[in-house]
Amino acid sequence: MTRPGPAMRQAMADAEVGDDVFREDPTVQRLEERVASMLGKEAGLFVPSGTMGNQLALLVLTQRGDEVLVGEGAHCLWYETSAAAVLGQLQLTTIGRGGFFAPDDITDALHPPADWNPRVTVVAFENTHNRAGGRIWPVAMRRAAIERAKSHSLLCHLDGARLCNASVASGESLPSLCDGFETVSICLSKGLGAPAGSVLVSSRARIAEARRWRKRLGGGMRQSGILAAAGLYALDHHLDRLADDHRNARRLYEALAPHGALVPDSNIVMVDLANGASAEQFCARAKAEGVLASAFGPSRVRLVTHLDVTSADVERAIAVLTKLAAS
Ligand SMILES: Cc1ncc(COP(=O)(O)O)c(C=O)c1O
Repeated sequence: MTRPGPAMRQAMADAEVGDDVFREDPTVQRLEERVASMLGKEAGLFVPSGTMGNQLALLVLTQRGDEVLVGEGAHCLWYETSAAAVLGQLQLTTIGRGGFFAPDDITDALHPPADWNPRVTVVAFENTHNRAGGRIWPVAMRRAAIERAKSHSLLCHLDGARLCNASVASGESLPSLCDGFETVSICLSKGLGAPAGSVLVSSRARIAEARRWRKRLGGGMRQSGILAAAGLYALDHHLDRLADDHRNARRLYEALAPHGALVPDSNIVMVDLANGASAEQFCARAKAEGVLASAFGPSRVRLVTHLDVTSADVERAIAVLTKLAAS
């Protein structure tokens, strides 16, 4: 939803570019190296979207017919148009509750090695978890789940579309949040405010394979340094300010708690409307008054704070939403 501001647009206009399919775009390379080192991994790959980041990760970690364990409401299961089934011919199985899972949820989902059983090879985590309301994985639970996955020789992917939110909100460093994951994908759009782009990080060998898949899927871009420059600008200028979004989310929650708002961990506030009121209708009425929200269930509304939402906007949203919720 964010729009690039004048300084970001200037950085894009000034970007030094080349043909990235020939690996001649210095700005893309700078972004890939920067994100890889920020997250504590060997190499990075600039991709057009978070969806492509997740899907390339699954493609390089699995073989056709494998089973991938995911948390409830995982983005790669709910919102990626069955890409894992179509592209990787993978079976995705949900484990745990509310987007998180315990070590035993992993162990219980495994099958004896028989010809008729699927082979579980990957566990996919999401942090922060979108559908769960921007929830941050509890550290001990995350580490225990990764450890259990490793003990079964499973590989771990992290959908870190909003990982920077998790880091800023929890104070845990990005490399620590990425520890134990073979692949991690982060989005430069969303809260960081770039117009497009995500980066997938992993080992050099896996990124080389992901690069081939990216080309195969039509994601090899040419002078994409123009977009990468926006990503670099976002990392320079929009990372620390994610704390403002979290404060704004907290303010929304405090005002809307009597109307069903749930405690936010980061920049997403879920509101469970009273008396089974229609979330679709509520969002349509809010939109008519200039407040954008999404229906995330029959009576559940999702509110997101970001770069283009000021604290004054939040106060206006509160006035509109409390009026609608009470009517
Ligand atoms: C957790 C999560 N992962 C991945 C994505 C996909 O990102 P994109 O919309 O860039 O494909 C999203 C988008 O909302 C998301 O919330």
